[in-house]
Amino acid sequence: MHRTGQPLLTHRIAYGGDYNPEQWSPDIWREDIELMTHAGVNLVTLGVFSWACLEPRPGEYDFAWLDEVMNLLHAAGICVDLATPTASPPPWMGRLHPDTLARNADGTTMHWGSRNHFSPASQTYRDHSERIVTRLVERYAGHPAVVMWHVGNEYGQMCYSDESAERFRAWLVKRYGTLEAINEAWGTAFWSQRYSTIDEIIPPRTAPYLINPGLNLDFRRYSSDLMLECFLEQRDIIRQADPQAVVTTNFMGFFAPVNYQHWAPHLDVIADDIYPDPSDPDSWHTTAMTHTLMRSLARGKPWMIMEQAITAVNWRAHNVPKPLHQTRRETLSAIARGARGVCFFQWRASTAGSERFHSAMVPHQGPTSATHQAIRALGSELDTLSTVLENAAPLATPQRVALVFDWESWWATQEPALPTNRLDARDILADWHTALLRLGVTSDIVAPTDPLGEYAAVVVPNLYQASPQALANLRDCVERSDHLVPLIVGPFTAVADHHGHIHRGGFPVPLADLTGTHGNDWVPLEAGVNIDMAGAQYAVADFAEHITVTSDLTTTIAHFTDDAPHDLAGHPAITHNAGTNTWYCAARLSPDALTHLLRAALPSSTRLPAEPPHGVDVVSAPTHLAVINHTNEHQRIALADITTDQQNLFCAMTGAPVEDSLTLPPYDATILVAAPAVSETKELNA
Ligand code: GLA
Repeated sequence: MHRTGQPLLTHRIAYGGDYNPEQWSPDIWREDIELMTHAGVNLVTLGVFSWACLEPRPGEYDFAWLDEVMNLLHAAGICVDLATPTASPPPWMGRLHPDTLARNADGTTMHWGSRNHFSPASQTYRDHSERIVTRLVERYAGHPAVVMWHVGNEYGQMCYSDESAERFRAWLVKRYGTLEAINEAWGTAFWSQRYSTIDEIIPPRTAPYLINPGLNLDFRRYSSDLMLECFLEQRDIIRQADPQAVVTTNFMGFFAPVNYQHWAPHLDVIADDIYPDPSDPDSWHTTAMTHTLMRSLARGKPWMIMEQAITAVNWRAHNVPKPLHQTRRETLSAIARGARGVCFFQWRASTAGSERFHSAMVPHQGPTSATHQAIRALGSELDTLSTVLENAAPLATPQRVALVFDWESWWATQEPALPTNRLDARDILADWHTALLRLGVTSDIVAPTDPLGEYAAVVVPNLYQASPQALANLRDCVERSDHLVPLIVGPFTAVADHHGHIHRGGFPVPLADLTGTHGNDWVPLEAGVNIDMAGAQYAVADFAEHITVTSDLTTTIAHFTDDAPHDLAGHPAITHNAGTNTWYCAARLSPDALTHLLRAALPSSTRLPAEPPHGVDVVSAPTHLAVINHTNEHQRIALADITTDQQNLFCAMTGAPVEDSLTLPPYDATILVAAPAVSETKELNA
């Protein structure tokens, strides 16, 4: 995808940010473009919120300003990720067409005056979107500056209106065929909820007490699909005009309302917006996990950071600025995990509007500010990295581990009225991912129905609700593998089927023959319960299971200590079935305990020669080896501890050779690559 120079994202790291020229006068545009050039910016996202400028009154269009900006950018060699402006319809739309406004669960109308007030279920909204997108595409498809299209912005709208109710019913009929099947799936024999005609079905609007979990689950499925329909309608308009067009939209990490596992195959580039909380010293763990998710969703397609903050955001209650070294570490963590684009929100700080206190690449204080200087330094560093990564020789890497995560099952763990509300699947995933990070193990975050054949181990931190296909896939990787790939299963897994109906019997019922255990009780806990694993004690977090061993091949790896309440004392907390190589964890454990477990369970082929020091992130990839120091201390790393491939390594940023070891100052990071064979080196140095 390039119109100028080397193709961005595939061969050059894209660097830039959201650009909102409609907030500025033409003389500032020129200054902006000059500053962008100095900062190494090669991509801007344009027009995300420009609908009211492009169509100031219904059917009356003004593209002249955008023409000028696009041409100025192109003349400077800056590529454009052109947005369809449909995230924020102009005020006239709400006034003339109130049916375009979303309604929340208690019927409150979402009004204009902010953004994202549209209902994805509104046909009127969708017709107007189609018109503006068609105009935009007619005008700019094939424009030499446009390398990518950005549909809408951060999809996430759910709507409970009557029009949405109608669409929901149609979606249900398509999914289930008959009303009988819907009643069955939702278990409506409970509490007199049985529907006698389809028209009685409404979205899960505000109700006196707990709402049927099947209704909630299907409404989430429907809402995600409905937004996807909106995305696809616009994508197809773009594709019709330009079949080669690269089309994306921006994800928001682990953003529950949109099932990114369903969406990802429909995007040409996976793009993510990420805003880690600078007050959380461990935010690098979740940042790394989110990057891992994006790389995994991309499945070989390019992925990029579409938005991050250079320093502070404005939307938390107390906006601690993000240190510039943290932004650099987060950026390099993304690059290390395969990102080939790093962009910011936004280019120039707004002086008016709700985001006037959000940081930007050009802050109010101007280009001499430390912030803007850091933007220039990062731009130059990424430019160097682009060339070096492109030419690096391949490195030997450990085998990957699959971390199984299912969006729908995540929704199900967010339902009220479970044994505890402390079993959110994303949080449990984070514990396991942190343990893998500590071990320096590279993982992919995959859906339970994704192919698992290439992995050296399959870890299922939590899969509360498992479809027959998911179960068959997990069983397959155990039963088909000739070398017994370990299957490591976390608590509260395979408790329910894909409708959310609980399996009867000793849990995890559909996997109990693999684990060789029988689950008797779920036991939510307060603090103070411990397990003993090979003489080491670890605290249990919030939740335990009372289980017994049923197979001769299953041994107890850890047990609850003698003072544990609820008849847990002495009972297994972690088991291993040597016949199937299946590990089962009957407690929610901290990353410390999980690290201990994974050390025992993972094959050595997945591991670095040694574990990285605490707080140091080591990412091993075929083109590079990244070492990121998230601590405030110097860290000395012996190369022999992080790679088996120590020949000809050099620092991608400085070009300095690295032999034997490297020392990283506090909060510093480096990316190492292997020099290519001599004939290619010439080109690299050219
Ligand atoms: C989101 C939006 C941007 C901006 C930033 C602020 O990511 O997409 O338009 O509002 O948040 O952090």
